[in-house]
Amino acid sequence: MIIRAAKFLMSNSRVDQCPPPTLPEYAFIGRSNVGKSSLINMLTGQKGLAKTSSLPGKTQLINHFLINDAWYLVDLPGYGYAKVSKDSRAAWLKMINFYMRRRENLACVFVLVDSRHEPQTPDLEFMEMLGTEGVPFVMVFTKTDKQSGSRTQQNIVTYLQKMSETWDELPRHFITSAEEKTGREEVLDFIEEINR
Ligand code: GTP
Ligand code: MG
Repeated sequence: MIIRAAKFLMSNSRVDQCPPPTLPEYAFIGRSNVGKSSLINMLTGQKGLAKTSSLPGKTQLINHFLINDAWYLVDLPGYGYAKVSKDSRAAWLKMINFYMRRRENLACVFVLVDSRHEPQTPDLEFMEMLGTEGVPFVMVFTKTDKQSGSRTQQNIVTYLQKMSETWDELPRHFITSAEEKTGREEVLDFIEEINR
């Protein structure tokens, strides 16, 4: 798919203040610092579109981007950031759970995990919540430029083995590097397929 236009629309903390749910929407979620905002920039080919930072906790709100005047990309704040207070963690959970359950045009959630890491409980629990709520999702293994291809493959096999303990059917997965633009066509083609 060719990205002809990508623009930031709005940030907010409330589902009922999001843009009208008239276009298909794709949301990016995962631990803080996993590379959600960077992946959105890589996919759209606009470096500064979503704000990124080497410090976790950069994205704080629900951020909508309009792509090709036809669909939305949504950048969400990450979970699992150790430095936030209990209260803000609870607020995050409430906002995100509400968004996942109520956003009626949500076509698919992209759950990002760092390709270098072993399966982590918050990610596994988050995907279980999506499964329980019946929210369609796929996985994205990020930052693959930080290790060899064989290491990435090994880690993905380990990850999916762990998931097969609880899932009958494994989610589709993508392998990406925002740095090297790996996986760009695959993700965009997948979105195009759903949009059809
Ligand atoms: P929060 O908004 O805090 O939840 O983080 P995020 O998931 O949006 O992460 P972000 O895109 O801001 O990236 C975090 C850091 O990882 C930044 O320093 C990025 O440059 C770096 N990063 C993201 N993707 C990649 C990648 O594919 N390769 C490499 N080498 N670094 C990456
Ligand atoms: Mg971010």
